[in-house]
Amino acid sequence: MIIVRTLQELAGARATLGDVGFVPTMGALHAGHLTLVAAAKQAGLTPVASIFVNPTQFGPKEDLSRYPRDEAGDIAKLEAAGCALVWLPSVEEMYPSGCATTIHVSGPSQHWEGMQRPGHFNGVATVVAKLFGQIRPQAAFFGEKDWQQIQVVRRMVEDLHLPVKIVPVATVREADGLALSSRNTYLSLAERMTAPKLHAALSHAVQYLLAGKEPATTLHNVRLELATAGMVPDYVALVHAETLEPIATLQPPARLIAAAKLGHVRLLDNLPVG
Ligand code: PAJ
Repeated sequence: MIIVRTLQELAGARATLGDVGFVPTMGALHAGHLTLVAAAKQAGLTPVASIFVNPTQFGPKEDLSRYPRDEAGDIAKLEAAGCALVWLPSVEEMYPSGCATTIHVSGPSQHWEGMQRPGHFNGVATVVAKLFGQIRPQAAFFGEKDWQQIQVVRRMVEDLHLPVKIVPVATVREADGLALSSRNTYLSLAERMTAPKLHAALSHAVQYLLAGKEPATTLHNVRLELATAGMVPDYVALVHAETLEPIATLQPPARLIAAAKLGHVRLLDNLPVG
């Protein structure tokens, strides 16, 4: 596996790779990230990953400085997964002094995570656009775990006419249903036992919705279920799967999305409805 840390090294190595399937990450890799590498391989593309903890997508009170990092472990995992190249830029390489251009997204970024984390999706869109320019992938693989992020990136790619196909990959979960996340390492043992209740509550709600139950009542019951488990819901919503607009009656394409705090950890999950 080729390891590159400067744009100059990247340009040289990129020329040898053919059609690339790109997996952008912030590191602290787990099986969820590695399934994206596997999907790139399966698509017949050369898998390339990036590891960059992007400061512009963290709010001032968020966990940038304590975001989990394990570069040596990540490199070993990517190598074992058959990744051809890993791009490990520094903050200075990505945002050199004098850098004056950012991407401002609206549409699907406006609700939910966008409301909870002002500026977050502008930071994501800006770094993803830069990474696409550097890597020039044929396709890029994103996890459904961050459903809204996929829709924001898709919208940006369409709006900026970027020549890259966005491929969503199903969420990888622990046996008890908890979606894998780098931030799960922040959970205490007791919180780890409670955390799967987010997925459980969403699964129950999907069954109720498909059985014809009223969405408003169903969402209310999910909030109650989360609160009873000791979580503080940020939002629980039934939305149009692409625009992320809330919907009052069930019609395709629909997605149930939620974020909840458990102690100091913010858990995020979503499921398709129908
Ligand atoms: P990060 O949180 O490291 O996630 C990298 C990719 O892995 C994202 O596409 C995310 O949705 C996917 N992923 C995370 N957990 C997953 C799981 N349990 N199953 C399947 N896929 C999963 O998302 C980011 O980084 C950043 O915002 C980034 C796009 C790299 C821009 O900085």
